[in-house]
Amino acid sequence: MTSSADLQKRAAGEAAAQLVKPGMTVGLGTGSTAAWFVKALAARGLDIRGVSTSQATEDLALSLGIPMVSLNEAGTLDLTVDGADEIGPGLSLIKGGGAALLREKLVWEASRRCVVIADHAKVVPTLGAFSLPIEVVAFGHLTTARRIADALVDCDITAISHLRERDGKPVLTDGGNLIYDAPCGVIADPSALADALKSITGVVDHGLFLDLADEALVAGPDGVQRLTR
Ligand code: 5RP
Repeated sequence: MTSSADLQKRAAGEAAAQLVKPGMTVGLGTGSTAAWFVKALAARGLDIRGVSTSQATEDLALSLGIPMVSLNEAGTLDLTVDGADEIGPGLSLIKGGGAALLREKLVWEASRRCVVIADHAKVVPTLGAFSLPIEVVAFGHLTTARRIADALVDCDITAISHLRERDGKPVLTDGGNLIYDAPCGVIADPSALADALKSITGVVDHGLFLDLADEALVAGPDGVQRLTR
């Protein structure tokens, strides 16, 4: 059975596909909402080039006939459309529930325009109820996790981050790194936390996407609403 959240994700993805124009180079996000966008985009049959944010999205896009280029080949992108785990004030985001945050951020930062798509349950007054994904290199990751714990304390966050596992094994990102999830609860100062995490050598990146989304297409029971910063 299709849930209302799935229908809303689909509506947001289909609305975003209408933003794409022929000739564009388009960043394709990762996750169930982004997959609806990719399907709707493929159905339009436009002459575009896609840049994927994960192997899963690359596979989906190619299976649907979207011509793909690497980020290196693309250089600057016209538009990127991607999902999010939380949409907070000023279109601050938590991303990385699908472990693709690093490639996502690389593609977002190379894009002239970034549009986040989501069902309305993702919109929150304060970031942090969704555990913050933090991508770390495998070498010395327990040491890095201790430094993450210190950084969280410095940001007045009481949280023990957990190594993400599936079927009893650590989840590996497309880049071969690990993910720690930090159940922050409330992130009062996302910028301070972002800076603190980025200053840790073993941290590759984190799921705080601040000042990156230009707009959001959020689907609810009454249709798709456009939010701007
Ligand atoms: C993947 C992501 C996804 O965009 C995020 O997890 C939302 O996923 P979904 O659309 O399936 O709810 O950041 O790393």
